[in-house]
Amino acid sequence: MAKQNTSTEELINLQNISFGYTKDKLILDNLNFKLKLSERIGLIGANGTGKTTLAFIILGLLTPQQGKVKLFGKICQTEKDFQQIRPKIGFVFQNADDQIIFPTVLEDVAFGPLNLGLSSEQALHKAENILKKLGIEHLKHRNIFNLSGGEKKLVSIAGVLAMSPKVLILDEPTIGLDEHSRAKLINILTKLDLSYFIISHDYDFLARTTQKQYILKNKTIFLDNTIVLHKHEHAHPLGYITHDHT
Ligand SMILES: Nc1ncnc2c1ncn2[C@@H]1O[C@H](COP(=O)(O)OP(=O)(O)OP(=O)(O)O)[C@@H](O)[C@H]1O
Ligand SMILES: [Mg+2]
Repeated sequence: MAKQNTSTEELINLQNISFGYTKDKLILDNLNFKLKLSERIGLIGANGTGKTTLAFIILGLLTPQQGKVKLFGKICQTEKDFQQIRPKIGFVFQNADDQIIFPTVLEDVAFGPLNLGLSSEQALHKAENILKKLGIEHLKHRNIFNLSGGEKKLVSIAGVLAMSPKVLILDEPTIGLDEHSRAKLINILTKLDLSYFIISHDYDFLARTTQKQYILKNKTIFLDNTIVLHKHEHAHPLGYITHDHT
């Protein structure tokens, strides 16, 4: 069989999407967006411009008044369509509390793989590995509800990675993370063999983790208006001494 050219495979394709929470006010108007296999795209935009709304539309949690949502080459309209695709999409919510299911960290991270059919032993093993990778293994027996905001965020990212998604959508993944955790997340994301779409206000983070960055503005994404982010120097105590952030 001829080998498929997967480099142009579309994972997410939004066509002419218009959406409003109320009939009289559109949040998104005739928006187009594509994420292809191996692409890593960042999205910035002012507060309240509709970035999270856009992510919810991709996941089928909100239904656009107009337009098509095509995921992995299939037009998704009904809840059943989206249900079939959702396991392939790892979504990290802006608010980590929306993601928590089980009280303890290990159980919570193991829930996804368990749900995908792994034995409880395999699921726990996978969860421990991911926690180790993210440098938060020490939290495994902690009650999630007592964790700090940044710790919760890392646990929610671990939960999503544990499900071996085909594509990641991260909504403000760096909120609440300190410099060390943020650097670790950059390191992990860039080493992953995954396509992803990151919504963030953190320009430097996007410059380090994505190849292309779009802006959501005036209810749409300007695809031909890719902005150029660049890594920049930063300031902190004793920053003049040579150091690294690993
Ligand atoms: N359930 C809802 N009902 C009505 N309006 C909503 C609802 N959820 C969000 N909105 C409004 O829709 C607009 C877009 O919200 P959204 O959360 O998508 O913005 P955002 O770009 O993610 O913002 P931020 O950068 O602050 O996270 C905002 O004005 C918000 O107040
Ligand atoms: Mg948001």
